[in-house]
Amino acid sequence: MRARGYLVWTDDFRAASRPKMTEKRQFRAIKGTRDILPPDSALWNWVEQTAREVFETYGFRDIRLPIFEETELFARSIGGESDIVFKEMFSFLESRAIELPQSPSIGRILQLAELVNGAWERGEIPKTARNEAEFGRLSHAHQQLQSGPFVPLAAMTAPNRDGLETAVQLLATILDSAGELGVQTSLRPEATAGSVRAYIEHGMHALPGNVKLYYTGPMFRRERPQKGRYRQFYQIGAEVLGPSDAPAIDAEILEMLLVFFARVGLTKTTLYVNSIGCKACRPKYVELLREELRKVKDQLGPDSQRRIETNALRVLDSKLPHEQPIIETLPRISGHLCPACSEHFSKLKDELKLRNLAYQENWRLVRGLDYYTRTTFEVTAEGLGSQNAVCGGGRYDGLVELLGGQPGVKGIGFAIGTDRAILSIQESGNLPRLPGLAVFVAWMGAKAYPVAVSIARKLRNRGFAVELPPEELKFKKSLGLADKLGARYALIIGEDEAASGTYTLKRLADAEQKKLSETDLLEHLESERRGPHA
Ligand code: HAM
Repeated sequence: MRARGYLVWTDDFRAASRPKMTEKRQFRAIKGTRDILPPDSALWNWVEQTAREVFETYGFRDIRLPIFEETELFARSIGGESDIVFKEMFSFLESRAIELPQSPSIGRILQLAELVNGAWERGEIPKTARNEAEFGRLSHAHQQLQSGPFVPLAAMTAPNRDGLETAVQLLATILDSAGELGVQTSLRPEATAGSVRAYIEHGMHALPGNVKLYYTGPMFRRERPQKGRYRQFYQIGAEVLGPSDAPAIDAEILEMLLVFFARVGLTKTTLYVNSIGCKACRPKYVELLREELRKVKDQLGPDSQRRIETNALRVLDSKLPHEQPIIETLPRISGHLCPACSEHFSKLKDELKLRNLAYQENWRLVRGLDYYTRTTFEVTAEGLGSQNAVCGGGRYDGLVELLGGQPGVKGIGFAIGTDRAILSIQESGNLPRLPGLAVFVAWMGAKAYPVAVSIARKLRNRGFAVELPPEELKFKKSLGLADKLGARYALIIGEDEAASGTYTLKRLADAEQKKLSETDLLEHLESERRGPHA
């Protein structure tokens, strides 16, 4: 990445060594990504469509967000120390602030430094933390070049080797840093940050009541792929943003979530809830936790040891077997919530009972994203092995303000891992009967073809899935193909049928055959669709 300043040279090298485009090779999907093929894709569509239908009955509306956003948006909201931001994002420089010189001579690099200085002062380069750091490096190198012992550059001679090497390094730093200046972006690892950004950008706080949004789509995290864990994965998420943080909002989205899971046949799920406190009470608890953790530091693994100082709460997330008995002895947040958080949590539990939603309290549920306050929750499902969380979420009351929005706006939401939800449905064998191909038009003879084209369109207009072979097939081959494609009916149109204006409809499951007029045919198929076997 740091070598970006040398892009020009690297590209030349690449061009020279590029394999011949005519060379034969097969491509495969990138590690951690996969194709979702039919018939699985039908199950995916059904799951996503069911989410839309359920969520809309709760007043949620679809939001479509960009797939990439400024890296800093994710760093600020999810947390720079979180695994997601620290090591899992796919990042790239989306727009360079300054064009790099084509042939980077000393003079042109110095000119470049002047150019960057000017652009920075005029505010033409976005003042992101990353740009600040790069600009700092560049200015420092530039100043050193101007004031160092090796001035003037033009007078530098071979015997002055040390000075020359330093100068070359400083020039390389200028080039490198200038190459890094611009808008650093990342593929979204999740969509809460983007939703909040959109909420602020479009002044949605001015909308009446709470704003309820849902989204579906791909997210990207550079994790080690395994069953249920991918680098491109999908989420179905929902967010509520607005002035109220009533526990009934938390309970209602949990109700909606569990209604959705029941609707798609995911019944063997467990809902875990917790409260991780707020700005007032959590820091004191974290300090206490840290003190206790320091006492047992030697018994912890390297990750937990590091987290004691960087993010002590995350130690509670550890799955390492030898750390479990130690964690069990640590102080629990429930005993350290401030009165307001404690009341919020107990009201949430009352609300869950009111709605008959079964849940388990899990004091270790801290979640890996920094924006959470108070309520956190997760749902696990069966058949998924170690990656058994199908949904995670919680409250993020300070996030809108943190990202420069209206103070006092509250937020709560969740995201379902679509891949995992679908895996779990498939493992349970509780699959829905999704409509497949309804009618295969088996036409034979030139006279039958126009009739076939016309009836295929009429059936499709009525919403039936119809396969019309583009070329004439022998009768046996036609019916064989209809069978292989899983059609429910073959609609046979030969020269006889074409002449008499009738159709022969054959039900493939039991070979029952009927000769029908067009009106009767349409009526028959419609009634079959409405019937118990539809
Ligand atoms: P999260 O817990 O990071 O939360 O992700 C939510 C769900 O996405 C997980 O429970 C899991 O099912 C799925 N998931 C995460 N990473 C992967 C992966 N690499 N492969 C497959 N599935 C994965 C969030 O993303 C928050 N934005 C949720 C939220 C919304 N909180 C408030 N609002």
